[in-house]
Amino acid sequence: MLTPEQQARYQADGYLVLPGFRLADQIAALRQRALQIVEAFDADRHHTVFSTQDQARRSADAVFMASAEGIECFFEEEAFDDQGRLKQAKALSINKIGHAMHDLDPVFSDFSHGADLDALARDLGLRQPQLWQSMYIFKQPAIGGEVKWHQDSTFLDTTPSSVVGFWFALEDANRDNGCLWVQPGGHRGPLRERFVREAAAGPHATRMLALDATPWPTTAEAVPVEVQAGTLVVFDGLLPHYSAPNRSPVSRHAYTLHATDAGAAYSALNWLQRSTLPLRGFS
Ligand code: FE2
Repeated sequence: MLTPEQQARYQADGYLVLPGFRLADQIAALRQRALQIVEAFDADRHHTVFSTQDQARRSADAVFMASAEGIECFFEEEAFDDQGRLKQAKALSINKIGHAMHDLDPVFSDFSHGADLDALARDLGLRQPQLWQSMYIFKQPAIGGEVKWHQDSTFLDTTPSSVVGFWFALEDANRDNGCLWVQPGGHRGPLRERFVREAAAGPHATRMLALDATPWPTTAEAVPVEVQAGTLVVFDGLLPHYSAPNRSPVSRHAYTLHATDAGAAYSALNWLQRSTLPLRGFS
């Protein structure tokens, strides 16, 4: 699948850009299916009036945890006005869909599996790939939120580290509409934070644990990954990356998958655990 040069570049930079990985009709099918899921999503279900902030937070935590083995829509932070009403149409207010569409929805499953992805994952060092999560990210026009510097292994840790992110551009991504920015070679640095379950604080409680005080890269070290629709960007779970807010009138849809190697120990503290839905690879 990958040439030795591409493999060497991935090892050196911690990411690799593969233009034209998915075709226009495959992308159109995924986008259409995502919109159907959003249309079917009952936004009011998440707008129950809670008597306390704490109650609201616990309810949101439970929804988030359940999405590990389900399909859930999450709103942009700036989607609501002061009265709690949506500022624009529901389809333009959703931040993402997650986290098990690749196993539960036939259209998403088709897009997320195949001999090409399986061969690619193996070339990237996953001897026995296990596909944990899928996210459809909308990065909506005008209100698409910033995603600060982070490493994806923060959320899905294994020992040894084996997380690989697969980031499919479903639309052209550029500096104006909030493309990815990465720190080439930054995957050789330490894991800075871990997002862990905290059973003592409740069944759905989590917290961010500081591991290493190494500062995040400076703007000067960041490289924009401007790509066309259909491009697949693969990156090491330790690679620092971020994306700026989308203040442009154009959306920036992307679809991501995260896989680990079955030979590495998956942490019981990871928020995302499977209990009923079997784990699969790419084939
Ligand atoms: Fe990320």
